[in-house]
Amino acid sequence: NDRPTGQQTKSSATHESAFLKACRREPVPHTPVWFMRQAGRSLPEYLKVREGIAMLDSCMMPELVAEITLQPVRRHKVDAAIFFSDIVVPLKAIGIDLDIKPGVGPVIAEPVRTRADLARLRDLTPEDVPYVTEAMGMLTAELGATPLIGFAGAPFTLASYLVEGGPSRNHERTKAMMYGDPELWADLLDRLAEITGAFLKVQIEAGASAVQLFDSWVGALAPADYRRSVMPASAKVFDTIAPYGVPRIHFGVGTGELLGLMGEAGADVVGVDWRVPLDEAARRVGPGKALQGNLDPAVLFAPTPVVEEKTREVLDAAAGLEGHIFNLGHGVMPSMDPDALTRLVEYVHTQTAR
Ligand code: CP3
Repeated sequence: NDRPTGQQTKSSATHESAFLKACRREPVPHTPVWFMRQAGRSLPEYLKVREGIAMLDSCMMPELVAEITLQPVRRHKVDAAIFFSDIVVPLKAIGIDLDIKPGVGPVIAEPVRTRADLARLRDLTPEDVPYVTEAMGMLTAELGATPLIGFAGAPFTLASYLVEGGPSRNHERTKAMMYGDPELWADLLDRLAEITGAFLKVQIEAGASAVQLFDSWVGALAPADYRRSVMPASAKVFDTIAPYGVPRIHFGVGTGELLGLMGEAGADVVGVDWRVPLDEAARRVGPGKALQGNLDPAVLFAPTPVVEEKTREVLDAAAGLEGHIFNLGHGVMPSMDPDALTRLVEYVHTQTAR
């Protein structure tokens, strides 16, 4: 066994969990469930512990990170924990001046727009993120058999924040660089692939049982542009962590036309938003990959019988899949009723009990 260290210590109970089995496309006792953004503002216990602490500061406080990560596991009985952090944490850790503004998102003080700006994107080492290693160590001890999912932002989505300087609807400066200066663009994405790969390695070494690469905004691209200008960098991230053998999940919003390529980039599990039914998504992705998704998050605002009916549709579309992890098609929204989420987990578990 020539796997890098860090993974040999993973308990066999974790290895045999429904979530990791589904990632590996093995038979499961029930369809596993977790929610993107399950840790956060929909939970009163989250709002309480975060009171007076800025988002980025909270990500650097290991005990708080561990507590917030555990909250949705305790409350909803989800099948996996996702590490509480943010996609811009590694950028902050290498010295990029940025903040997460409430109700806005990540804002970059000096956007990255020229070749000279690339020099600010230095390599990330484990010493840059000691709080991540520490929090993950606490969590793997406390979680028992429940797997911990590590995550990072994919090169395109990180580039969009860096180039635009903040959230963007149309990604116009990002695309201007991608189309107008392909060499600079390729070098920027390659730098980000190095940083992201290093950040995921830290998390896997610290005990993450699976990782998700969030390319949230890559659905803005046509397939040919994705293949040419983005896929090589995302593939590099996946290749970097391939030797660990932990499942690699790849997700983006509005990626119906990109699902096949996102699998090809090197994912073991492809995340699907609510726009493409899972049976159709499986045709687009092809064999050999599990799928994750894909209830429209907004359905949670409808009455319980409607939630159950729409959930049933997702489960029916997933019936023929090799591996299915139930999730929302995007993240939990702050205004969602946490009890509706708890009920949803239980509904999926009972409906799929084998
Ligand atoms: O999923 C989880 O529960 C783990 C925590 C997590 C956060 N951000 C915490 C967070 C994860 C996985 C992320 C990833 C992330 N961050 C993504 C990819 C996921 C996606 O939604 O597509 C993106 C695009 C970001 C960037 C970002 N950070 C945004 C758009 C925001 C929201 C800004 C706002 O206030 O509306 C953030 C801040 C953020 N990250 C919050 C949380 C809980 C809210 C800030 C707070 O609680 O004060």
